[in-house]
Formats: sequence, structure tokens, C-alpha cells
Amino acid sequence: MSHTPETTRPELFTWEFAADPYPAYAWLREHAPVHRTTLPSGVEAWLVTRYADARQALADSRLSKNPAQHNAHAHRSGRVGIPGERQANLMTHLLNIDPPDHTRLRRLVSKAFTPRRVAEFEPRVQQLTDRLIDSFAERGSADLIHEFAFPLPIYAICDLLGVPAEDQDDFRDWAGMMIRHHGGQRGGVGRAVKRMRTYLAELIHRKRADLGDDLISGLIRASDHGEHLTENEAAAMAFILLFAGFETTVNLIGNGLYALLRNPGQRSLLQESLARGESGLLETGVEELLRYDGPVELATWRFATQPLSIGGVDVPVGDPVLVVLAAADRDPARFAGENTLDLARADNPHLGFGHGIHYCIGAPLARLEGQRALATVLTRLPDLRLAADPSELRWRGGLIMRGLRELPVSFTP
Ligand code: HEM
Repeated sequence: MSHTPETTRPELFTWEFAADPYPAYAWLREHAPVHRTTLPSGVEAWLVTRYADARQALADSRLSKNPAQHNAHAHRSGRVGIPGERQANLMTHLLNIDPPDHTRLRRLVSKAFTPRRVAEFEPRVQQLTDRLIDSFAERGSADLIHEFAFPLPIYAICDLLGVPAEDQDDFRDWAGMMIRHHGGQRGGVGRAVKRMRTYLAELIHRKRADLGDDLISGLIRASDHGEHLTENEAAAMAFILLFAGFETTVNLIGNGLYALLRNPGQRSLLQESLARGESGLLETGVEELLRYDGPVELATWRFATQPLSIGGVDVPVGDPVLVVLAAADRDPARFAGENTLDLARADNPHLGFGHGIHYCIGAPLARLEGQRALATVLTRLPDLRLAADPSELRWRGGLIMRGLRELPVSFTP
């Protein structure tokens, strides 16, 4: 029996959808690849689900990142955005600006946040990873989100930025308040964002008088044709590095470990390869995990500044466009065996880090943390088992991110 698209249209943004959005995305890719929908907030937006359209939209300069381009109707009907977005939008940062401002700020931050700085950070990431595993290794059980995936990125970014060790637990608390936003505590997010911003502004002010080797000092020092970041810009930049680099990396580690636990054959191959001292499968494996169940389900907002057509569908000026990375990265037109986890996948131009001028500036750090976290857990806790029925696991219900609330595991101490 054949169904018309109308009769089978899946419901989006339900709890069932949050647990496994992939069947709904497969339906959209096939029947309504550029689809106008009403988001839970009441805002109407276009979802772009095919790989080719998604890649093109991410690089389309007619799609602005500036929320001021948002149409009046959507403004009236509700909020736009990512957790903490209202607060974050009070400042100018890379994810809400367009060229030429974006070009200038991105060039300046790139001078400080270099691949070399990240590579030199590897021993510290390994140390943090081991320290966190030490804290539960004797117990034989753990919640790998709360005890591992959540604290690792926050301590790593704090260290890289140069937040003194004695203040890093404050950031852990604030980040916890931000991530719990998805449980509905919006006031807490505002407070957390405000405290983080105030702290960073003060830290930048102090560091200006006493520059060191850390990334904040690097941001203050960075110059391009005589131009520097202002103190405000440096604070907004430090904030967005924390904000964009925190929950994403929690989800890379959490979703990644979960996918490995659910795919024992692939996990064994990776463990064997690590035991031989190889790194190739770990590297392609992290890319595959970004494709298969990546941390960012939908790329951040874009707004049409001119009438444009995406995949043959006309998008009016001012309409918000959401590129569904999770759908694009499982498009069978680009990825053979799209629903299969294949850690050795060689041809893998996934969109997990985005594409175009807003391509993730933290990708080298995310890869480093993801690789060290997965390799160390699989090596130190070789018989790791999921300690819950997959149907009982809860996913955080944000719009942009995709990640587990908890990941209970057991293992031989
Ligand atoms: C941009 C994903 C980790 C900082 C992005 C974008 C994606 C992304 C998809 C583009 C968004 C868009 O175009 O709408 C991820 C994933 C991560 C991760 C999956 C972890 C696995 C990090 C880390 C940092 C970071 C660790 C920094 C410490 C940023 C910044 C931008 C960005 C600043 C904005 C760049 C720009 O607009 O020019 N990221 N990210 N991210 N990411 Fe990441």
C-alpha cells in the first residue's frame, strides 16, 4: 500500500523524536526536503535536510547570521534560538555576524587559537581525561555524562583560556546551569551566562596588565594590520569559545561512547586497533561518530536577506532557515550505508562541524578531546557495558544540540 506524504508525515519535536529523530529526517529528506515547520517556540522556520542543499545553504552569503534580519512575524511569535541565545546575542560574536565584521574577528581569533596551540595542549587533555576516569575507576560504575563527558570540555577550555584552577569549579557550576536549561530552568541560564561574562571581562582586564601564554592573553595580543580586539570583543570571544565548545564536546563524547556501546563489532575493532598502538581508526572513527550521531543536530540560525531558492523551494526574505546537519549527514545520496556506523569510513565529508565561513573554529580541539576521551575510556575500561535499557535513556530536548542527559555504565574495577 502506498502512503501519501500527508498521511505519513512524522511528528517533529516530540519526546519520541528527540530519542531518535533519524526516521523522521529520512522522511523529510525524501518527501519534503526543504520544509517549512512551526518550532516548539512558535517560530516558523525552514528545515533543510538533503546533503547537497545543506552544504550549499551553509555557504550561501544571502543567508545572514544576524538575528536583526529576522522577519517581523517570527519576532512576534516567539523566541529564536539556542540556549542562552538572548544573553549571548547581547554581544557580537562570530555566530551572529556576517562579513566584513565576521572576517575581521575570525582572522584575529585565528591568530591566537591556532592548531599549534591545540596540539601543544594534548598532554594536558590526556591528564584531565585520566584524572576524571581515576575518580570513578575503582567503583565499577559511573554516569559517563555527569562524571566524564560534561566536566572534561569545561576544564579543558578553562585551562586553555587561562582561567585559574581555583575558579574552574565555578565554571563547572555555571555550565551545569546552562545545560540544565533544557529541563526548563531559563532564569538559571541567564544568571549563569551573566556570571560567566562578568568573570571573563574581569579576567581579561587583569590579564591585560600581566600577559601570559594562555589563549586569553593570545586574544589580547592578536593584531591584524594594526587592529586589535577591544576588551569587549575579547570577552565576547572568550565567551563564545566556551559556549560553542562546551555542550558540543560533551555530546561528541557522550553520543560517541553510546554509539560504540550499541555497536559492539565496531567497538572491538577500535579496541584492537588501539591495543596495537595505531591511531588511524580512532581518527576516522571520531569523524564517523560526528556523522552518525553528531553533537549539533541543526546548525545555528540563518535568515534570508534576499529572496532565494533552496532545492527548488522559494524562501521569502526574513525567513529563518535551519540546516539539519543530522539529516544531511545521513543522506543516502552522499553516504552509502547511511545508517551504519563504519569507523573506517574513508569518504566522509560530513557537515558535523558546519561548512563555509562559519566552519567550526574549535574543530582541532574537539577532535583532540574526542579522540583522547574515547581512546582512554576504551583502553582503561575495556569491558565497559551500558547499565540501562536504551529505551530508558533520556535525551536533552534542545533545538540545536543532540545529546544524552545521562549514560549509566558498569565495568570491572
Ligand atoms: C561553529 C560544531 C566544538 C567553537 C561551529 C559550527 C558547528 C560546530 C556545526 C557552525 C555553526 C553554523 O554554521 O551555524 C561543533 C562540534 C563540536 C564543536 C560538533 C564538538 C565536537 C567546538 C569547540 C570550540 C568551538 C571545542 C571552541 C573552543 C566554535 C565557534 C564557532 C563554531 C567559535 C563559530 C565560528 C564562526 O562563526 O566563524 N561549531 N563545534 N566549537 N564553533 Fe564549534
